[in-house]
Parts: sequence; C-alpha cells; structure tokens
Amino acid sequence: MLRKRGSLIVCGTLVFVSWNAILVLLLWGRAPSGQPGEPSREQRGLAKEPAADVLADVLRMADTFEAELEMQKEILLQIQDHRSLWELPNKKGRKVVPRQPVIPILVIACNRVTVKRCLDKLLEYRPSAELYPIIVSQDCGHAETAEVIGSYGSQVTHLKQPDLSDIAVRPEHKKFQGYYKISRHYHWALNQVFKSLSHSSVVIVEDDLEVAPDFFEYFRALHPLLKSDPSLWCVSAWNDNGRDGYVDPGKADLLYRTDFFPGLGWMLLRELWEELEPKWPASFWDDWMRQPEQRRGRACIRPEISRTLTFGRRGVSLGQFYDKYLRYIKLNSEFVPFTKSDLSYLKEETYREKFEKEVYSAPVVTYEDVKQGHLSGAGPFRLQYSSKDSFKVMAKNLGIMEDLKSGVPRSGYRGVVSFMSRGRRVFLAPPPGWTHYDPTWS
Ligand code: UD1
Ligand code: MN
Repeated sequence: MLRKRGSLIVCGTLVFVSWNAILVLLLWGRAPSGQPGEPSREQRGLAKEPAADVLADVLRMADTFEAELEMQKEILLQIQDHRSLWELPNKKGRKVVPRQPVIPILVIACNRVTVKRCLDKLLEYRPSAELYPIIVSQDCGHAETAEVIGSYGSQVTHLKQPDLSDIAVRPEHKKFQGYYKISRHYHWALNQVFKSLSHSSVVIVEDDLEVAPDFFEYFRALHPLLKSDPSLWCVSAWNDNGRDGYVDPGKADLLYRTDFFPGLGWMLLRELWEELEPKWPASFWDDWMRQPEQRRGRACIRPEISRTLTFGRRGVSLGQFYDKYLRYIKLNSEFVPFTKSDLSYLKEETYREKFEKEVYSAPVVTYEDVKQGHLSGAGPFRLQYSSKDSFKVMAKNLGIMEDLKSGVPRSGYRGVVSFMSRGRRVFLAPPPGWTHYDPTWS
C-alpha cells in the first residue's frame, strides 16, 4: 500500500509538473519579445507594434494565464480528493482506516558504544520504520560511539549536538557538570524533534536502556489517552518499584497512573514541550520536572512490569541506585496486545474511584505482618504510614524505594505505593482522606 501511495503522489506530481512545463512553453511562444536568442522585431527590421496591439496581447496573455491557473487548481483539488486512498488499509486490505500517528523514538547518546544494545533491541522489535522513525541524538562528540551509530546507516537518523563546550557552573556544582550537559542535550534534541522535524509526539530512550518486545505496542496504545486527557502529561515504560518479586508476573497487562515522573523510556507530546521549553532548567531536568510548578498535578501512565531495563551501571550519577535497585528491575518478556485492549479503566475519574475503593477497602495490616509474611488471605492489604519517617522506614525495610521527590514517593499515586510481597498485593498508603503531597518530604 505504501508503494501504491508513493506512486499516486509521483503521478500527481508528474501531471502537475508537465502542466507547468506546457504552460511555460505556451507563454513563451506568445511573448512579444520573441524567443530568447531570437532577433527582436527591431533587429529583424520590423516596425514597432502599435500600443493597442501590445495591450490586446497582454490581455490575451492574462486570459490564458487565468485559464491555466483554474486548470491547475482543478488538478490540485483532484489530488486532494484522492488522499483517502493513501490512508493505510486494515489487514483485509479493503476498508480504509484513519492514518496512524508517527511516533518517533529519540535515543539520547553520548560516549557509550553500548548504545548498540539499545539500538539492536529497538530495531528488533520495531514493527514499522515509517511509524517509528529512530532519531539518535549524540552529545559528547565521541568518535567510537559515532561510528557505532553510523553503522546503522539509514535505519536511524544520526543527529549531533553541536555545542560541546564546558558549561560555566558555580564551584560547588563542578561535580555536577555532567547533569548540566545532559540538560543542555535534552533541550537541543527535543527542539530538533518538535521544531526542526515538526513531530507531534516522541518517546525518549536513553542509550543505556533495553526495550521490551511490546514497547512500541504500549506507546501506540496509550497515545490517544495521552492526547485526550489533560490530567496526564506522560506515558512511561518504567516502574520504579518494578523489581522481580515486587510485581505480579501474571499481570503483564496491568497499567497504573502515577504522580511520580518515572522517565526512563517515556512519551510526551509537542504541547508539553512548548510549555516546558521556555523554562527548561540548566541541570537536573528530571527532578525539576517532578516539582509541583512543572507537574501541576498531572500524572503519568506506568506499567506493572517495566518495558525498559537499564544496563548503565556507570552513568553520570555514578550508580547511585544501580546496584541496590535498578539492576533488579524486571523487564517484561510477554507481548501484551495493548492496542487491542480496553484501556478505559485508566481514565482519570474512573481510575481514581476504583483505585481508592480498592486501597481503602483493603484490610489494614502491620509492618511486622508484612515483613514476616503473616498475611492471611489472598489480599490485597493496606499498610499505613502517617509521616515521612514512617514511610521511609517501612519502605526501606520492605525493599521499596524510599526517596521522595517533591514529596511524591516513587511509583506512587495519591500517596499510595502498590507492590507485591510474597505473592500478595500490598498498598503502602497514607490514612484515608489524602488530599495533597507535602513537598517538604524529601
Ligand atoms: C540520571 C537518570 C537519567 C537522567 C539523568 C539526568 C536514572 C537511571 N538515570 O542519569 O534518566 O536523564 O540522571 O538527571 O535515573 N548524556 C549526554 N551528555 C553527557 C552525559 C550523558 O547526553 O554529557 C546522556 C547519556 O547518553 C544518557 C543520559 O544522558 O542517555 C543519562 O546519562 P547517564 O550517564 O546514563 O546518567 P544517569 O546517572 O543514568
Ligand atoms: Mn543512565
């Protein structure tokens, strides 16, 4: 079908170009000064045409011109009418369905040749090159990495961030130079995607992420929800508490809303970039996004089981969390046909009501019950925290990420962190009647 669509465009263009060529020849033939290179009337020894004749000639030309323009308009309208034919057919090849949105994948790279692992998986699972163009944006000017990226030829678009200069930072921030460079790179790369390349959405993947088989399927399925629901601002492939043993292996299809911005393989729309770009920070872009001024109460969608895995132990943050948490995050292996699933349960009101009912109708258990595995019944269970410290102590001892950003716990929704403990669902939750986060909890 794509070939057919291509040939239609080529035909239309050919007709249009030929018509213009004929028109040019026609008008040349009528030009009063004759063909270029031909002697003029005077040179040919003829008398000058009287003024009235010239005027009549010009009028005739104008008439012809008008008629030609009318014809061209007709051709263009016909081409436009046939546009519906270019739209992609469904499997049966007959019925036309609306054209699918193009969702580019932006890979953020720097100086790690292991970007190969990231690109190989993306290319292995990508169902369509047209629907998911891969743009690799490289910072750092590292030749070896550039060579690896270059080896993919036309399968990827290789952009190079042009400003490799050091960034002037205050002395205490010297050690954070890397975070400044990452922020500058993101700023430049996202401008390329949305402004220069005019895309309307993008999925950002860092060079140390490996994607799951249904990575593309997941983002395509959530694209309409992200577009239509202003209470959402991103879709992420990452579950911050998605370690093996902490997720339900039988629930690969389960998705959540989260107030915590997870990053690590995430989709945003152009409108969000237009909102953030003018105030994009010089460093720590992800924690900046987690501040209330940026988040403005909006949530992200995240999966029960992550669709990305990070293999970058040695990164700018020097493996702060890598050995403790990140390396154990389970990568989903089963393909879930999200685009064919009913995702209406994720709509804000529906979701909030059902979630709160599920959490607050669950029986309360103590930390000791959970820790020692003394939970009777199938669950789910509720474990209550009432202060920053009780959250941190319980989280830490149960293997949940204890850090809070702008008061929001990782993977949390309305203060609730959902996880599995010895095969049972536990909600680490604030008391009933939660209203807002306290940004001083950190
Ligand atoms: C951590 C986050 C990362 C976030 C970053 C910025 C995790 C696991 N990772 O980075 O999502 O973007 O903090 O706050 O939470 N890069 C450049 N230019 C540089 C250096 C790095 O573009 O000068 C790129 C890398 O190619 C990579 C990304 O920035 O795609 C993150 O760098 P990395 O070294 O992986 O740092 P993390 O500590 O993982
Ligand atoms: Mn990293």
